[in-house]
Amino acid sequence: MVEYKLEIAKLIKEQVDLELEEIMSMIEVPQNADMGDFAFPCFKLAKTLRKAPPLIAKGIAESLANASMFEKVEQVNAYVNMFVSKEEFVKDAVAEVLEKKEDYGKSNVGEGRPVIVEFSSPNIAKPFHIGHIRSTVIGNAINKIYDAMGFKVTRINHLGDYGTQFGKMIVAYRHWGCEEDVKREPIKTLLEYYTKFHVEAETDPSLEDEARETFAKLEQGGQEETKLWQWFRDESLKEFTRVYDMLGIQYDSYAGESFYSDKMPQVVEELKEKDLLVESRGAMIVDLEPFGLTPAPILKTDGSTLYITRDLACAKYRENTYNFYKNIYVVASQQNLHFQQLKKILELMGYEWAKDIIHVPFGLVSLEEGTMSTRAGRVVFLEDVLNKAIEETRKIIEEKGVVTENVEETAKQVGIGAVVFNELSNNRIKDYVFKWDKVLDFNGETGPYVQYTHARCASIIRNAGEMDLTGFDPKYITSESAYQLVKAIADLPQVVIEAGEKYEPSVVTRHIVDIAQGFNKFYHDEHILVDDPEEKKAKVALVVAAKTAIKNGLALLGMDAPERM
Ligand code: ARG
Repeated sequence: MVEYKLEIAKLIKEQVDLELEEIMSMIEVPQNADMGDFAFPCFKLAKTLRKAPPLIAKGIAESLANASMFEKVEQVNAYVNMFVSKEEFVKDAVAEVLEKKEDYGKSNVGEGRPVIVEFSSPNIAKPFHIGHIRSTVIGNAINKIYDAMGFKVTRINHLGDYGTQFGKMIVAYRHWGCEEDVKREPIKTLLEYYTKFHVEAETDPSLEDEARETFAKLEQGGQEETKLWQWFRDESLKEFTRVYDMLGIQYDSYAGESFYSDKMPQVVEELKEKDLLVESRGAMIVDLEPFGLTPAPILKTDGSTLYITRDLACAKYRENTYNFYKNIYVVASQQNLHFQQLKKILELMGYEWAKDIIHVPFGLVSLEEGTMSTRAGRVVFLEDVLNKAIEETRKIIEEKGVVTENVEETAKQVGIGAVVFNELSNNRIKDYVFKWDKVLDFNGETGPYVQYTHARCASIIRNAGEMDLTGFDPKYITSESAYQLVKAIADLPQVVIEAGEKYEPSVVTRHIVDIAQGFNKFYHDEHILVDDPEEKKAKVALVVAAKTAIKNGLALLGMDAPERM
C-alpha cells in the first residue's frame, strides 16, 4: 500500500524547510470528503516564510499538481487539499487484500516482542457468570489483536484458586458434602456448601477456626486438604473449559494464584530487605500514603498472605520467565486501586519494568432485571447465556428458511458471535445493560448483521463462478460507493494497530460495521454480476476484498464467519 502521508511529505519537503516527520504530523485527513483525502494547513509556515498562508498554500498546491498519485490538488484559503487518484488507490488497495488473504490486517509493529495477556481469571468453585464475559471476551480480542500486530503473545488464565475460602470450602465439604453432588454439578454444589458454611458459622464460630486451620494445612501441603482442593479445582476447570471451548478460547497457561504459593516467601523477604514492610496493628503492610494510595496489606496478623502478595510474586515470575515487553491484565475497573498499588510497589522495589504492567479495566455489565446477586440467587451463568443465544438463533434461522448445510453449526457460530460482538461494541470502560433483543437483531449494528453481510459476499462469489482476478481494471470500481468501501477496507491494518495501542477492541468492531455498511451500500447501488467480463472481474475482486476484510476482522474478535446464513 502506498504510504500516502510519507509520499506527500516528501513532495512538500521540496518546497518548505521542515523535517519530514514534522510535515507528516501536519498532514490532516479532512472529515469532509469535499476537502480531499488529505489536507495540509500552512498557518505554521507564515512566520518563517514571511508570506500569507493562502499564498504559501497556493505555491505548494501548484507544485504538487502534476504528481501522478493525485487526481486534483486545490488551494482553499490556507489549506492545500489533495485528492488522490482513485484508480491508483483502488488498484493498490484491493490487490493487496487479494494477495495477503488471511494475513490481511496483520502487521509487524510488534517485531516478535513478548507480551502477556492475562484474561478471564475466574475464581474456582464460584459461578462463571455473565459478569465474566467481559474479561473473557475483551481479553481474547486483545490477545488476537496483539498477535496480529506481530507480538509474541502468551495467554494466561490467572485462576483464583487460592485463599482462605478454600479452608471454608473443605470444612463445609467434610461436614455436609456429598461426592456425587459435586461431580454432577460442581460449581453450584460447592457454592451451596460455601453459603451454608457462612450461615452455620453465625451460630457456631468454631467453624471459622476450623477453616483457618484447614487453610493453614493446605498451605503447608497437607495431603488430604490438597487432594480435596485439587479435586474442586479440576471440577471447576471442567466447567470453565466448556465455556472456553464454546468461545473458541485457548490458553498457554493456567498458572493461577496457587501457583505462586511457594514463591511468596521470597517476595516478602525482599520487601523486608528493601525496607518497604511496616507493621500496622499486627499485620505487615506497604505504606503507600506518600503516593496518594491506601496501604497495601502483605501479611495478615496470622502471617497468611493476601491477593496482592500473590500478584507481586506473579509479576516477578512473569518477568523472569517471559521477559515481557508488556504484561497486560484485563480486569474490572473495581480493581483499579489494586493494580495501582501493585505497580507502585514494584516501582518502589526498584523494578524499571513496573512501567510495563498494564491494567486494562472495563465497566460493569448488568441485566435488565437488575444487578446480579449470588445470595439472592440472581446469577446468570455464562454458559446458559451462550446456550440461549444458540437456541434463539436456531429459531430465527429456521423461521427465515435459511439454507445452510448445517443448521446446528451455523446457529452456534451466529448465536455465540452475536453475544461476543455485542460485548465488544462499546468502549470497554462503559457500563452496559445486557439486552437480548439488541444482541440478536439481524439488522442493527450487530454480529448477525456483519456475518450476514459476509455470507452475502460469499454467495455473490459462488454465483460468479471460478474467475482469475489478477489484473482487474480498477476503473470499474471507482464509483462513490465502491471507493468508500475500498477506503474502509484499506484502513483495516491501521485500525488494528490503533485498537491494540488503546487496548480497545471496539475500535475494530466499529470498523467492521463500517466495512459491512460500505459493502451493503455498494451492493445496493450497483449491479455486480454484469455481462461485461472486465467489469464483472473488477467488481468481484472488490467483493472478495470486502469478504476477506470482514472475515479477518471478525477473527480478531474471536468470531467465525459462516459462508452461508
Ligand atoms: N480472580 C480475580 C477475580 O475474579 C481476578 C484476577 C485478576 N488478575 C490478577 N492478576 N489479579 O476478581
